[in-house]
Amino acid sequence: MVGKIVGTGSYVPDTIWDNHKIAQFVETSDEWIRERTGIGKRHIAGVDTTVSMAIEAAKRAVENAITNGAIASGEEIDAIFVCAVAPEILLPAVACEVQKEVGAIHAFAYDMNAACSGFVFAYNQAVSFMNIGMIKTALIIGSEHLSRITDWTDRGSCILFGDGAGAVVVTAASGPLGMVMHSDGSGGAALVCSHDGKMKMDGQKVFRFAVKSVPECVEELMRQMKIKEEDVDYYVLHQANQRIIEAAAKRLKVSMDKIPMNIGEYGNTSSASIPILLDEMNRKGMLEGGKRIVMAGFGAGLSWGAGYVLTQ
Ligand code: COA
Repeated sequence: MVGKIVGTGSYVPDTIWDNHKIAQFVETSDEWIRERTGIGKRHIAGVDTTVSMAIEAAKRAVENAITNGAIASGEEIDAIFVCAVAPEILLPAVACEVQKEVGAIHAFAYDMNAACSGFVFAYNQAVSFMNIGMIKTALIIGSEHLSRITDWTDRGSCILFGDGAGAVVVTAASGPLGMVMHSDGSGGAALVCSHDGKMKMDGQKVFRFAVKSVPECVEELMRQMKIKEEDVDYYVLHQANQRIIEAAAKRLKVSMDKIPMNIGEYGNTSSASIPILLDEMNRKGMLEGGKRIVMAGFGAGLSWGAGYVLTQ
């Protein structure tokens, strides 16, 4: 049993800060940021919150699943998982706020924090519940208000992050099962944030970790599933840095045609990056015709993992 994407949605705030705007706060340039990261701009939440962005993305995903004929209403959703690094509220869970807005009255709902690996971890968890027969349909959301924990005086990190939310409705389908999840708390100091503080990052350490861990966990997943490069239509990787994605492609010997990217538009939106990208692919028709997708995420923790998903 595997997950099949039947609906997607996303929401990003209207306010856009391009690299020139960032250069007003810290000594940097559009050229430096583009060359080192591939990022051109990011969306910044003004009145938006983790909850409001999650709700909007979720509503769009549920509507899309209804339009696709996969579900009749939100009542068919069995579980809601929201991944969020910095929700403004501690209680109730963001997932419960989403539940009441999408009419998922039968769903259980809770939040998870696995940083930028969040979406992949939550998806794998949903598939695990599907395989023990506990759920059939899940709504998985990444909603990130990172600008509130970004240190806008640190040019080594503030150039990277953006706000936004992405949501995916998945249903249980027959297909090959595979999942990979890893954590290494001994490396946790590379990316930290206290409750009332701002993110601090050792960029080079995270970079070295990412270029190794992303291809390794993709290879591990494909070995586990006994699938080959030709069995995968797309590799949807966490959008943290264009150079990390290109390095992973090189190591995996995969053409960039199979690795969609949107980091230029949004920066790193943590657990929202993969579902926002999946939603863009869906709107462009790229998910039509039963696609086979490998997803991989990595981030603070340290944490990293990969998952396998089908499309309608
Ligand atoms: N603009 C201009 N110069 C900058 C800069 C900026 N925004 N940020 C750093 N620099 C400078 C440094 O001060 C340093 O100068 P020095 O040589 O005079 O000391 C030089 O550029 C190189 O710094 P370095 O940290 O080695 O740059 P880098 O090539 O590693 O790029 C990152 C920095 C953050 C872009 C890169 O390390 C990265 O993307 N890491 C991964 C981070 C990540 O993905 N985090 C999220 C994980 S989910």
